[in-house]
Amino acid sequence: MQHIVIFDSGIGGTSVLAHIQSAFPNAQYSYLMDNLYLPYGKLDSKILHNRLLSKLKTVETYFNPIDLIVVACNTASTQSLALLRKHTNIPIVGVVPAIKPAANKTQTQKIGLLATPATIKNSYIKNLINDHATNIDVHLYASVNLVALAEEKFWTGGLDENEFKLEIERLSISKKIDCLVLGCTHFPILSDELNKALGSGVELIDSGNAIANRVSDLLTADKSMFGIRKIKRPIRYYATAPVKSSIVNVELIKLIDL
Ligand code: SIN
Repeated sequence: MQHIVIFDSGIGGTSVLAHIQSAFPNAQYSYLMDNLYLPYGKLDSKILHNRLLSKLKTVETYFNPIDLIVVACNTASTQSLALLRKHTNIPIVGVVPAIKPAANKTQTQKIGLLATPATIKNSYIKNLINDHATNIDVHLYASVNLVALAEEKFWTGGLDENEFKLEIERLSISKKIDCLVLGCTHFPILSDELNKALGSGVELIDSGNAIANRVSDLLTADKSMFGIRKIKRPIRYYATAPVKSSIVNVELIKLIDL
């Protein structure tokens, strides 16, 4: 049985996990959220690099054997993927904002990228735009408040609508764009709210399918499971700090911060 570890600062990776799970329904999934350091989007890059290296150690110590690690966080992926890969032999898949699919899709030649401040200011994004969206007008929007709102929605089932409205007003997303790239795995959790706020003229584009495809490229289907009824194993959840929730059974979340 294949063992896939999903890693994120918080619950954003669950939006990615859903896509991977439909491609690999029989795999065992362990999900580690580093909520002690959430949000990553606010961290200085040196602190983030060190923290990620230490969590890579945690993952290797605690979860082995592992077939694949998915760093389901744009901030961590855009800043530290190369570094993480140097420190392990386990294949790592990261998340890249879907600039290329959005650039291919836009009719207005104007797209937006909504991500954390750390992702927006990373040179990786500049290169991604130069490589895949040279003739496209790319509007950049940085938000860390939406990460907190996505967490709130996940754990409580609701969110502070006024806070959300204020954040959308502050971002002042151009009416001219027709595609908005969700460059943070937390943001698909707010898709309904974003769709409502931005209207039907703006399509939200996330990286969930692309990541599932990348995982499929690296992991071949587990042949030992052929002919066996697909059984979704319970996902094992781990966190680095206690979580409070009114709708999720937090008793099932183990605390680890080695
Ligand atoms: C965060 O922890 O700030 C959000 C993670 C992401 O960029 O996907």
